[in-house]
Amino acid sequence: MCGIVGYVGSKDALPIVLAGLKRLEYRGYDSYGFCVLNGKPFLFKQIGKISENSDNFDHVKGNVAISHTRWATTGEVTKENAHPHSDCKEEIFVVHNGIVENYKELKNNLIGEGHVFKSETDTEVIAHLIEKYFSGNLEEAVKKALKEIRGTYGLAVISTGDPEKIVVARMSSPLIIGVGVDEFLVASDPSAIITHTRQIINLDDGEIAVLKKAGFSIFKEEKESQKQIETIDWDIEQAEKGGYDHFMLKEIMEEPNTIEDAIRGRLILEDGNVKLGGLFQVEEKLRGINNLLLIGCGTAHYACAVGEYMLEDYASIAGETDIGSEFRYRKPIVNKNTAAIFVSQSGETADTLAAMREMKEKGILTLGITNVVGSSQARETDAGVYTRSGPEIAVASTKAFIGQLATLAMLTVYLGRQREMSVVTGKRIVSELVNLPNLAREILGHREEIKNIAEKYKKYRDFWFIGRKYNYPVALEGALKLKEVSYVHAEGTAGGELKHGPLALIDENCPTIAICPSDSVYEKMIANIEEVKARKGKVIALATEGNEEIKNIADDVIYIPKTLEMLTPLLSAIPLHLFAYYMAAVLGRNIDKPKNLAKSVTVE
Ligand code: F6R
Repeated sequence: MCGIVGYVGSKDALPIVLAGLKRLEYRGYDSYGFCVLNGKPFLFKQIGKISENSDNFDHVKGNVAISHTRWATTGEVTKENAHPHSDCKEEIFVVHNGIVENYKELKNNLIGEGHVFKSETDTEVIAHLIEKYFSGNLEEAVKKALKEIRGTYGLAVISTGDPEKIVVARMSSPLIIGVGVDEFLVASDPSAIITHTRQIINLDDGEIAVLKKAGFSIFKEEKESQKQIETIDWDIEQAEKGGYDHFMLKEIMEEPNTIEDAIRGRLILEDGNVKLGGLFQVEEKLRGINNLLLIGCGTAHYACAVGEYMLEDYASIAGETDIGSEFRYRKPIVNKNTAAIFVSQSGETADTLAAMREMKEKGILTLGITNVVGSSQARETDAGVYTRSGPEIAVASTKAFIGQLATLAMLTVYLGRQREMSVVTGKRIVSELVNLPNLAREILGHREEIKNIAEKYKKYRDFWFIGRKYNYPVALEGALKLKEVSYVHAEGTAGGELKHGPLALIDENCPTIAICPSDSVYEKMIANIEEVKARKGKVIALATEGNEEIKNIADDVIYIPKTLEMLTPLLSAIPLHLFAYYMAAVLGRNIDKPKNLAKSVTVE
C-alpha cells in the first residue's frame, strides 16, 4: 500500500529516489520521507506530498538512499509516523510496506529491554529488532529480526554501521530490484524506476537481497537464489496501473488481497472470534447495544445493507440502514442502547459526516468503518475499524466495497460472540473468511468469460439486476457500477419486487442479471427468473459452481464458488464489478473518471 524506492551505486542517490517517489504520488499518499548515507545519515520526513515540498536538498550528497511514501495503516498521519523509521541510536533506517501483526507484543518486549520508541507504527519494531541483532553485518541482523516478525513486508534497510549496501526483503508485499550498470534500485512498484532502468528482478516471498554498487545477491533460507532479469516493456502510464489498462481493473484484480489485508492479524481461529483493536476501548459499551444504525452513501450504503443482514442473522442485533443524505434530515428514534456505524472509503463524504455529527450531538455511540487513516470520519467517530484496502484511484469504488464487506463480517463475529453466537458458528465464519481470497481469485481467473458476456450484451441500453436477501444489496451495487462507468441504464431490485412494477419493463430489450447462488432463497430466485423468461427477457445468472440445472433456464451463466450464505456478497460482487468494467471498456467510456462524478463527495 505504501511506496518504496531505494538506490545504491555511484551516482547521487537522492534525486533518483525522489524522482521515483514523485512517480508514485498519483496514488494519493499522505506523508513521505527518506534517508541518505554519506558517513552520517541525513533523515527527512514530512506530511503531505513530495511534489509540494519546497526544501532544497542539493547539499544532500550520498550514493545510498532509501525513501518511502506512506499510506497510513497503523498510526495516524504524523511526521513521526512517516518512514524511514530508525533504531535508538539513529544508525539503522527502515522503510516498510505491509503489516507487522505481532508488533504490540514485540514492542512491549523491546521496551522492556530498554529500547525507546518514537512513533506509533508497527514498522519501528523492525528497526529496533535489527538494532538488537546487529553486530557489523546488516543482512545477518535483518535475517534474525525477520524470524521474529509475523505479517507481511516489503522492506529496505540501510545502516551507518554497514554503509555500502541496502538489504531488502519481501513477504506478501511486492518488491522489485532494478538492475543498472554498477547501480541497483529497489522499489515497490515498477513505475518508480522505469525511467531509470527497465531491467528488473521480481523478489519472491521469503527472499532477502543485498544490493551493493558492485553487485547483488539474493537468498532464501540461507540458499542463494538464481533469478531471471526481466525487461519491462510497459510505458509509464501502464506501469502505474500495474500493467492493466485502467485503475478500475487493477483494483478489481486486487479484491482477493483486499480481503487478506482486512482480515490479517484480526482472526482468532481457535476461539471462533476476531480482535478489532479499534473497538477495544468501547468493548464494554458495545455489549449493551441492541440497535445498530448503519449509514453510508452509494456503494458504502450497499455494504451497510449487507451488514444489516449479517448482524440480524448472526449477532442478534437489530440493524437499520440508511443513506447519509436522508438520515441526516430524519428524526431517528434512538436510545442509550443504540449505536451508529458509518461506512465510507474516503471518510470525507459530506452526507455521511453530517449524519455522524448529528448522532454525536444526540450522544449516540459512533463507530466508523473507513479506509483512509486520519480522515475526518476516522478522527471524529468514537471508535472504528480500518478496512486497509489501500489507495483506490478509480472513481468507481470496487475493492473498497469488498474491504467494507469483510470488515462488516468481522464486526458481526465480534458482536455475535459478545452475545449468543457459539464458538462453532464463529469458527465456521472465520475459517471461511480465510478461504475467501482464494475463492475470489478463482472468479478473477475466469474474467475472460465475463468479458465475452459483456461483448455479447453490449448493444443493450437497459439492464435489470435482481437478488434476494444478502444479494439484494449486491444487485443494487451491480446496477450502480454498470450505470456509473458504462453509462448504460441499469436498475437493481429485490427479486420479489419484480412483480410489483418492474416486470412491466422486462422484454427482449432489457436483460436481467440474476444473482442466484445456491442459498436459502435460491428457489425464490428461480421463480423470479421464470417470470423474466416468460416476458422474453434474457437472463444472465450468477450461480454456484456445480449448478447445471440453471443452464436450462438462463441464457448465460457466471459461476462463483460455494461459500457461506452471509459471505456470498464478497464473491458475487466481483463478477458484477468485472461486467461493469468490461461493458464500459467495450463501449469506450472514460472508465477511471466517469463524467459528472468525483471520487470523494465532500459537498452536500
Ligand atoms: C460508487 C461510488 C460511490 C461511493 C460514495 C461513498 O462506485 O464510488 O457511490 O461509494 O460516494 O463514498 P465513500 O465510501 O468515500 O464515503
